[in-house]
Amino acid sequence: MTEARRVDWAGRLAARRDGLRRPDPVVEGRLRRMIGLTLEAEGCEAPVGSRCEIFGHGDHSVEAEVVGFAEGRLFLMPTGALHGVTPNARVLPREEALAAHVGPDLLGRVLDGGGEPLDDRPAPEAPARMPLAGRSINPLGRAPIREPLDVGIRAINALLTVGQGQRMGLFAGSGVGKSVLLGMMTRYTNADVVVVGLIGERGREVKEFIEDILGEEGLARSAVVAAPADTSPLMRMHGAMLATSIAEYFRDQGLRVLLLMDSLTRYAQAQREIGLAIGEPPATKGYPPSVFARLPQLVERAGNAGRGEGSITAFYTVLTEGDDQQDPVADSARAILDGHIVLSRSLAESGHYPAIDIEASASRAMLNITDDAHVRASQRLRRLYATYRRNEDLINVGAYQHGSDASVDEAIAYHSSIMRFLGQDIGEAVSFRDAVAELHDLIGEDTGASLA
Ligand SMILES: Nc1ncnc2c1ncn2[C@@H]1O[C@H](COP(=O)(O)OP(=O)(O)OP(=O)(O)O)[C@@H](O)[C@H]1O
Ligand SMILES: [Mg+2]
Repeated sequence: MTEARRVDWAGRLAARRDGLRRPDPVVEGRLRRMIGLTLEAEGCEAPVGSRCEIFGHGDHSVEAEVVGFAEGRLFLMPTGALHGVTPNARVLPREEALAAHVGPDLLGRVLDGGGEPLDDRPAPEAPARMPLAGRSINPLGRAPIREPLDVGIRAINALLTVGQGQRMGLFAGSGVGKSVLLGMMTRYTNADVVVVGLIGERGREVKEFIEDILGEEGLARSAVVAAPADTSPLMRMHGAMLATSIAEYFRDQGLRVLLLMDSLTRYAQAQREIGLAIGEPPATKGYPPSVFARLPQLVERAGNAGRGEGSITAFYTVLTEGDDQQDPVADSARAILDGHIVLSRSLAESGHYPAIDIEASASRAMLNITDDAHVRASQRLRRLYATYRRNEDLINVGAYQHGSDASVDEAIAYHSSIMRFLGQDIGEAVSFRDAVAELHDLIGEDTGASLA
């Protein structure tokens, strides 16, 4: 009797779930309003992040992405130009999810934020699909950062050692050598693959970076995604996401990937444009809160996968104009990255390149990936450098008396060889092994030693 009356809750729930999962039929909507770059459609439903097609005059159609909704209306942002869109235009939600088309043929290619080739060659074969927004990795499943990655730059390899799977920030104002440094890393790193995202740069710079800085040798082992400043904010966001998806693809093949993103600030600004356009309130220095949610979502996609699998080591450039340390994007980036390299304008102005301010820079993973002798030598170099810098003004005006402080005497004796060690010509590659050997030659093993 009780058996007969028992309700099959599990079955009912399953049936209900199936019913809920069944997709609604696609219903066409109409365009009701346009403010700036934002379009408002009524009558159709589509998830945030999906695409719609807007049919304008004649055969013309425009693609747009759902970026929000309110009071029965969808907010859409075009992926390209808005020309030809008419009032009451038909809006048709597309069913397929946003995906990045990836494959080994992307090496040596330059793509735009939508994955279309920019290099006048036929579309690359890209048979694999990766979600543009990435898949989250269980933090407990990630392999720890244990091995250094050779980036080919002496000062970084020796003093700011970067681990495979580490995420670094490159903080600098404009024109102090970010692009040149990224280009050198592309050519000289021993990573298997390099993925470069050029986000929000001036268009001319994209060409310069690819032709002059990367060169054929650099481009051959890299995939470049360029979404310059004149593309829509959505394309700039997609450019950064696509570059990350390409890096994830190569990581999933078990490769060591170096991802160079220039710049994270322009990515944040693209999200700011979108957020403000759909009515999100500006919170911190004009940035709406969604920006600070989007930054870690992008950055967390880099790093190690599981043990024995590939890695994405990443450098994100962050613009710190006028040495504004209060810049909210720089603040947020510092908190979510595993280290920062600061480029100094005064070093660049004095002709010292790469203009890395080693006092202000740090790699949080360095202790885990280097041996004790290497750490001791690098700390000693930093101490000598810092002692010199503290007394630089006195030394320069001739007010320092030789012999009055042994540590300052030592710092002065070492200074010119330290500056030579930290400098590196554009055409010079310095492997990790050579950088460490040169560091030991310069500083010596015995941390108590001093130059007579
Ligand atoms: N290692 C180097 N050796 C010699 N000169 C260098 C080096 N790095 C940079 N420079 C000089 O600095 C200039 C500016 O460098 P770069 O274009 O890389 O700066 P940037 O920070 O990317 O600038 P922007 O903010 O405009 O993108 C270069 O044109 C070059 O003259
Ligand atoms: Mg640049």
